[in-house]
Amino acid sequence: MKKVQVRNLHPGMVTAEDVFAIDGRLIVPSGVVLTDNVILKLDSFDIFSIRIEDKEVEATSNVSIEQLSYKERVKQSPEFIAFKQDYDDNILHFQDSLNAIIDKNAEIDAEELINQTVSLVTSAGTSTSAMDMLMNLRDYDDSTFAHSINVAVICNIFAGWLRMSDEDRRLATACGLFHDVGKLRIPGEILQKTSALSQSEYEIIKIHTTEGYKILDKLGVDQVIKDAALQHHEKCDGSGYPYGFTSDKISKFAKLVTIVDIYDAMTSRRVFRDAMCPFTVITAFENEGLQKYDPHYILTFLENVVNSFVNQRVKLSNGMEGDIIYINPVHLGQPTVNCNGEFFDLSSRKDIQIEAIV
Ligand SMILES: [Fe+2]
Ligand SMILES: [Fe+2]
Repeated sequence: MKKVQVRNLHPGMVTAEDVFAIDGRLIVPSGVVLTDNVILKLDSFDIFSIRIEDKEVEATSNVSIEQLSYKERVKQSPEFIAFKQDYDDNILHFQDSLNAIIDKNAEIDAEELINQTVSLVTSAGTSTSAMDMLMNLRDYDDSTFAHSINVAVICNIFAGWLRMSDEDRRLATACGLFHDVGKLRIPGEILQKTSALSQSEYEIIKIHTTEGYKILDKLGVDQVIKDAALQHHEKCDGSGYPYGFTSDKISKFAKLVTIVDIYDAMTSRRVFRDAMCPFTVITAFENEGLQKYDPHYILTFLENVVNSFVNQRVKLSNGMEGDIIYINPVHLGQPTVNCNGEFFDLSSRKDIQIEAIV
C-alpha cells in the first residue's frame, strides 16, 4: 500500500482504503479500480492524496459501466455507497449500545436497533439488492457487531423467502441482531484467537448462548429473541450445543438463525482466512448432509441464494471465466457455466469448482 497524490493517479490503480469527503461522506470505497471518471470525482472533492494498493490491474481508462465486472459495478453504484454508509452507521450505533449494556448496565432501546436494521433492507430497494450489497461488504469488517448486522439483514431477507408475516419477519431480524450478544461476556483473547481452540476454550465459547439468554432476559425482549440466542448452535439431529436439542425442541426462529449464522461466518473474511466463495459454502452444506437443519428452511435458503447468482460471472478452478446459466436443483453448488460458448456442467465435472464470483 502506498500514498499517492491525486494529481499522480492513473486508471488501473486500486484504492486501498475508503476515501471520505471532508463532511464524512464516502466518495470512493476501498477496492475500486480507478478510471478517469473516478479520478475526476476525487479531484472535484479536493482530495489531496489517497492510499493505493501496490498491485495495479489492467488500465480501465474510459471503460464503460457495462464493461466493469459485476462486483465493480455494484461497488461504484450510488446505491452501494449509500448502503455502506447506513451499514457502517448501524454497526457503530449497535456497538455503542451493546457496550453500554455491558460496561454501564445501561438500558437500551432494542426496538430502535431493530428498526434501524429493518430500514437497511428497505432502503436497499429489493431483497436481492440488499443481499448483493451485503456480499460486497465482505472485505470490510469481521467484528461480532458487523456479523450481527449481517445475520440480521440476511434473516430478514430469508424470512421474506419463507413468506413469513411482517411481524415474524421483524422478529427474525431481531433474532439475528441479538443472537451472539453473549459473546460480549467471552474474553477477547479467546474470541480473536487465530490458532485452533483448546477444548477448555471451546467450552468457554459455548457459553455465549446461555450468557446471551441472560443478557436479553434482563432487557425484557420477546421470548423468541431470547430462545434464538440460546438455541442458535443447536442442530436438528441433536449434535449441537448447549443442550443437544433435537428439531422438535428448537424454535423456528433459532433454526433460521442457525443457517444464516453459518452462511455469514463462512462467506466473511476472518483474521485467519479469506472469505469463502458462496458456492463452496453451498456445496459444504450439501456435503455435510441437510439433516442437521430444518429441511424446508435449508432448501429454501440454498435455492434462493443460488438463484441470485444466475447470470453472474464466476472464475473457475481451471482458470476460465464464464457466466452461470443453469442451476441444477439436485446439485445446487454445481451449476452449469458458459465460458465463451464452452459449457461446463459442474455437477458432472467434479474436477472443476467455482472459485470466486467476479
Ligand atoms: Fe453464536
Ligand atoms: Fe453468530
